Amino acid sequence: MKKDYGQYFQKPSTKSARKRLKKTVDTIDFNEHINIKDIGVGKHYLIQTYGCQGNEADSETIKGILEALGFKETNRENHADFILLNTCAIRENAENRVFGELGRLKQYKKTNPDLILGVAGCMPQEENITNTLLEKYPYVDLIFGTHNIHKLPEYIETALLGKERVIEVFSDEGSIVENLPKKRDHDSKAWVNIMFGCDEFCTYCVVPYTRGKERSRAPESIIEEVKNLAEAGYNEVTLLGQNVNAYGRDFKDKRYTFADLLEALGHLDIPRVRFTTSHPNDFDEAAIKAIAKHNNMMPHIHLPVQSGSNAVLKKMNRKYTKESYLDLVKTIKKHIPDVSLTTDIIVGFPGETEQDFLQTLDLVKQVDFEGAFTFIFSAREGTPAYSYEDNVSHEEKKERLQRLNAVINAGYLKGSQRFEHAVVDVLVEGVSKKQADIVAGYSQHNKLVNFKAPASLTGSIVKVKVTEAKTWFLKGELHEVI
Ligand code: SAH
Ligand code: SF4
Ligand code: F3S
Repeated sequence: MKKDYGQYFQKPSTKSARKRLKKTVDTIDFNEHINIKDIGVGKHYLIQTYGCQGNEADSETIKGILEALGFKETNRENHADFILLNTCAIRENAENRVFGELGRLKQYKKTNPDLILGVAGCMPQEENITNTLLEKYPYVDLIFGTHNIHKLPEYIETALLGKERVIEVFSDEGSIVENLPKKRDHDSKAWVNIMFGCDEFCTYCVVPYTRGKERSRAPESIIEEVKNLAEAGYNEVTLLGQNVNAYGRDFKDKRYTFADLLEALGHLDIPRVRFTTSHPNDFDEAAIKAIAKHNNMMPHIHLPVQSGSNAVLKKMNRKYTKESYLDLVKTIKKHIPDVSLTTDIIVGFPGETEQDFLQTLDLVKQVDFEGAFTFIFSAREGTPAYSYEDNVSHEEKKERLQRLNAVINAGYLKGSQRFEHAVVDVLVEGVSKKQADIVAGYSQHNKLVNFKAPASLTGSIVKVKVTEAKTWFLKGELHEVI
């Protein structure tokens, strides 16, 4: 059993997380601040990752740090000396899954009393969640948030050698940390953070509180990272941010936009550039033109709309209307005629009427989305919408979700069918789980393609003739290895 808290006992504060101060963002160089010691040699770690691509990228950093400390990865829980859940707070069910997992993982502390069980990511950033962890999950040894991943070596040392429990969650606006080590999950495609945090404050969303203020990485650092990845043989990068179109808006010393960044990356020798997520409000024509102009900019845009009702959009604080969203789609289609558009939609926002919902269905049909993540509104403590009056029953919300999904699924199929008999470029990701002679990968339009080919093609881009369109994937034949 670990001793109680020692040098680290810092809990989050919702009040501070809400603040946006005018102070300049500091950039920390991991190499200059962190003293790496061999404390993990002979030990194993296991990380479970929940939530968005931002969290997946963070887990790659956490793995990179742990490997630098000498730890090795394992997928066997009973073999691990350190189990970490990198969590998501976006909806209640994401959080419930984590609490369930903690209850289940407790058993391994009996067989291995030295096991360190940790919780990181967005959940600890919430004051109420951290209080629950402290009160009801006393066997959790290590709690840290999204702003202090770079301090993991100190935390591990304290928990492992000092046998002290550690909790340190910062609720300030966050810094930018450069030169963090990374153990990437793939060797042909990579996440590249271009910005952190979010200043949109959509009324339903926890992200501005869990990830802090919007802050953009210097363009030179991003361009350097992409160049290095290209040189190391990577074929695809996905630029990450909660609202990539707002990239650069926080620079005080220069004007440099998302369009400028795309323009710069368009000239690099990296075959594929993707980005996520776009906010309709900040998507300008210059960025659309840059995507249209460069062959390495993939013709797929994920453009969350959330709702088609102007009244609901206003209550969500999304700052655009159904009409302006449709205008944006028109401009995108003008410059990138074969574009594939996908979206996120929330049904059952407090006060959403049947008429509001019909507006959403109408918008979905007008845009011809080729996919969507659809959610039932989940009330998040600390957000404005948590206390909005909600008179729509859960039954009705579920029914709306089903009606919406029927339209969305028809869109998926239609989106697949337009590639039937076409030859598409596919970045091969690996062998299919079900059949050893089948490989799978994604086309430029982000369609999953399955086809017969040797596993040795993993990581390369090949031409595939599509033979059959299914709702969720395309079937094809290998056409040409390029
Ligand atoms: N930054 C991205 C989205 C990040 S969260 C954007 O603005 O587009 C991913 C999706 O989760 C959101 O687009 C939204 O559809 C959904 N979501 C966020 N908060 C939610 C909540 N409280 N209840 C239900 N869905 C939510
Ligand atoms: Fe959340 Fe809105 Fe920010 Fe997206 S833009 S992360 S939905 S607050
Ligand atoms: Fe979840 Fe945090 Fe991402 S709340 S969606 S992991 S930013």
